[in-house]
Amino acid sequence: MLLSDKTIVLGVTGGIAAYKALELTSRLKKAGADVKVIMTRSAAEFVTPLSFQTLSQNRVAINMFEEPKAWEVRHISLAKAADVIAVVPATANFIAKAANGIADDMLTTTVLASKAPLLIAPAMNTNMFENQITQENIERLKSRGASFVMPDVGRLACGAIGKGKLADIELIFDSIAYLALKSEADLSDKKIVVSAGATAEPLDPVRFLTNRSTGKMGFAIARAAWLRGADVTLIAGRHTCPELNFVKTVNVTTAPEMYSAALDAAKDADIIIMAAAVADYRPAEVKKSKIKKSAGAEEIRLVRNPDILAELGKKYAGSKTIIGFAMETENLLENAAEKCAKKHADFIVANNLRTEGAGFGTDTNVVSIIKKDGTVTDYPKMDKSALADIILTEAVS
Ligand code: CTP
Repeated sequence: MLLSDKTIVLGVTGGIAAYKALELTSRLKKAGADVKVIMTRSAAEFVTPLSFQTLSQNRVAINMFEEPKAWEVRHISLAKAADVIAVVPATANFIAKAANGIADDMLTTTVLASKAPLLIAPAMNTNMFENQITQENIERLKSRGASFVMPDVGRLACGAIGKGKLADIELIFDSIAYLALKSEADLSDKKIVVSAGATAEPLDPVRFLTNRSTGKMGFAIARAAWLRGADVTLIAGRHTCPELNFVKTVNVTTAPEMYSAALDAAKDADIIIMAAAVADYRPAEVKKSKIKKSAGAEEIRLVRNPDILAELGKKYAGSKTIIGFAMETENLLENAAEKCAKKHADFIVANNLRTEGAGFGTDTNVVSIIKKDGTVTDYPKMDKSALADIILTEAVS
């Protein structure tokens, strides 16, 4: 599990978004982390400590002066135990105190006493967030190494619409994981280009030719590479995945657009992973006006798109690691081996669309990895995130 040997101290301060920290606690627990929650007294007015205790399976710390269960100075032991301290949601008051070294409750004392990376996800009224004093406090904390996951624009508890809504929990989770794993990041000297999703080839202003790719596999690879410290460029076609805000993303539509984005990004990459489902053909002509029904059943003439993987293989085989995918409905291994050789890839990740749990839109995949030396490894059904790590490990081994 991603965070199985990590301790996350989760600080919860008093705002209406405090209830969202329950979901974060559960997400961190599912990833294997030991979660120790510290609530401020105001937070405990919004959500009961019992809820956090139940989800974290740990005693919740609120009071500095409660009778210790074991002989320990609690804020010091929490400060030491933390791999990351995350404050979610963080009020303007907490930010002001942390920026000025004020330590007057369990959370601020623990923050001041800890050398662990600090992640802060603010949530508050727009005016409080935009107030120059809050902004200055944020800058001050940033200059001392704190990381922030900034709030979104949305409807706030006060009824106003503006910036101040707690960022997406998944985004906060990823940012915590990134900090927790930073010291053991094994790809921090690698530049990786990943393509994902489907290309769409326009026919007229209304229609286009595309395929069923959702981008899940490519996005999982880009996220895993980022978590392992790589400098990642994601070239994304059409997809249904949440944006990876922390990954450099180039959005493209057509195969020729993906071709030039990939060739450009590949120049200084170490590893190139073509997970996108690229259309092999596009309409020869893109009509300027909508094709009308009254025009009758027209034939659509198609022309070949560039083969991006083959082009990259021709250019960089031997100097960069090149990885392709193959989605087949029959003769999986033969076709994949042929693609590997023809496109000068180091290996091909092949899956059979007819296998249960493999292919488009699923959260899992069932693949074989076929290397240029002819070795084949079959993998059981697994989450695309687990497979992403295997592909990256193979890429650097
Ligand atoms: N690919 C590419 N550019 C294309 C077509 C495919 O870069 N124009 C890449 C894909 O991203 C994938 C690999 O080539 O990594 C294999 O794609 P696939 O569609 O399985 O193979 P094709 O070469 O298109 O062959 P076919 O459609 O006949 O199976």
